[in-house]
Amino acid sequence: MSASDDFRDYASAKEKIDAAPEFYAGYFYVNARTKYIDSVLRHAAESGSEQVVILGAGFDSRAYRLHDNYPTLRFFEVDLPAMTAVKKQRLRDARIQIPGQATLSSIDFETQALEDVLPAAGYNAAKKSLFILEGVSMYISEASSGTSLEFVHRHAASGSSIVYDYVLREILSEGRSRYYGMESNAETVAVHGEPYITGWTPAECTMSRMAVPVR
Ligand SMILES: C[S@@+](CC[C@H](N)C(=O)[O-])C[C@H]1O[C@@H](n2cnc3c(N)ncnc32)[C@H](O)[C@@H]1O
Repeated sequence: MSASDDFRDYASAKEKIDAAPEFYAGYFYVNARTKYIDSVLRHAAESGSEQVVILGAGFDSRAYRLHDNYPTLRFFEVDLPAMTAVKKQRLRDARIQIPGQATLSSIDFETQALEDVLPAAGYNAAKKSLFILEGVSMYISEASSGTSLEFVHRHAASGSSIVYDYVLREILSEGRSRYYGMESNAETVAVHGEPYITGWTPAECTMSRMAVPVR
């Protein structure tokens, strides 16, 4: 199987990747991350999860791509008000209807808690849920991630799960030069107004902060 068979939009991305080979890893990383989290979602849905909560959803398309496969699965997307408005406009422009089982809500993780938003959107704490934090933890403060994880801990039904990714703490300092392409990657996200501000060590993720037990 070639890369172009397995990854959408490879042709359009190839020109950019060829010009700056350090983008290559990022391109495949994001594709692999999306495919992996799709598989986590499928497994959750087939194992009894009834709700998917997408934190910092951005242009996440799962509610639109997968609702036919899981017609009773409820999707909750939350993101900054400006991002939510842009997404709704893009969906209108593309003539994509928001499925009945999807709700888009606004939140600023830095100033609001999920308690302020999700129950009002229809989230049911008694239902088994999957939480997705994809490409977000590195752009928000450590305290904000903690607040969201605390919500999952307190308000997710037994058997619920969370999938997330993170950048290594070293990426926030000169230590990033040890990782191929990371200097230009960190510069690129900063230039676009979203610098990496939070990183963890793998041990921190598995041992404490990220290992919040779900009841
Ligand atoms: C790199 S994008 C990832 C989007 C999506 N999860 C994905 O993987 O395609 C980061 C997202 O986090 C959102 N975000 C950043 N800071 C936030 C905040 N303080 N509150 C809510 N969302 C935030 C951004 O608006 C953006 O949609």
